Amino acid sequence: MSKGQFDKAFNELTHRRREVLIKFLAGETDEAIAKSLNITKATVRQHIRDICEEFGLKNEFPDQRYSKRADLIALFQRYKPDFVVSKTPIETAILEQRTKKSVPDKNFVGRERAIAHLNDFDSQGAKVILIQAKGGVGKTTLARNYLQQKFGFYIEFPIAKETENITPIESLLEERLRQLNEEPGREFGVSLERFRQKLQTERIGVLIDNLEPALDENCKLIKPHRRYVELLRVLTDLSLQSLTLITSRDRLREADVSLRYYWHHCAKTGKLYSKELMLTSTL
Ligand SMILES: Nc1ncnc2c1ncn2[C@@H]1O[C@H](COP(=O)(O)OP(=O)(O)OP(=O)(O)O)[C@@H](O)[C@H]1O
Ligand SMILES: [Mg+2]
Repeated sequence: MSKGQFDKAFNELTHRRREVLIKFLAGETDEAIAKSLNITKATVRQHIRDICEEFGLKNEFPDQRYSKRADLIALFQRYKPDFVVSKTPIETAILEQRTKKSVPDKNFVGRERAIAHLNDFDSQGAKVILIQAKGGVGKTTLARNYLQQKFGFYIEFPIAKETENITPIESLLEERLRQLNEEPGREFGVSLERFRQKLQTERIGVLIDNLEPALDENCKLIKPHRRYVELLRVLTDLSLQSLTLITSRDRLREADVSLRYYWHHCAKTGKLYSKELMLTSTL
């Protein structure tokens, strides 16, 4: 099979077959693939047989006596070797997201200006950007769409809707470390250090959503949740490859997290745009 034929077959795969294929090439068992995609093992096997056929690997024996799986792997080793080396679950997740047929989110409109500013901050080396505006303006929607498009994969720290329900950072961080395939430490400091190291090696997006219930009237993290400042301090580390977006209705004023403000003013009246999102970054 030529490279051109290979590319054509690859591009014509359905979304579901791609998902199966990437997991299969990453060395996942049929059982694990079935579980993660919520389908049966028999369906996984059927998908793999169909994929083989799409790549011209027809089984000449109707009873599937000889599986073409090894040939499929060999084909990818030749044309797309990145897909074959064994991967951590997060690498597989990133790969899946990146190769998804890009279906634009039809519900996400506008925001070109905010996206341009986010890109500016990012290219200037900002590590943490605060997206601040009043309720319901579209902060979370922008942050999720931006991170999804930029990184293909991001992890989220949902803070809370109300002050009473704030998720303690210790348990949230443990969960996120596991999501990144890292073992949390027994102490918070150890977990935090592991998280830092992970973000030094992998370029992923981080979203801290709805920070305001954890802020007091002076825009500081409230007493029971001061440890969020430690997380923020890590996220501003210049050696990281990650980019963190925080959404909040209120400003954040922590001495340890120095933020540079960026305001949108209307060129005519000099007033702040009421519906604009204000962006602030660690620069
Ligand atoms: N750019 C957009 N295009 C289309 N719909 C949007 C856009 N931004 C926001 N929305 C819609 O507006 C609603 C509110 O958006 P979102 O939840 O992002 O606001 P928010 O600023 O995060 O609010 P809150 O302060 O309550 O957290 C959602 O239903 C969302 O789908
Ligand atoms: Mg929100």
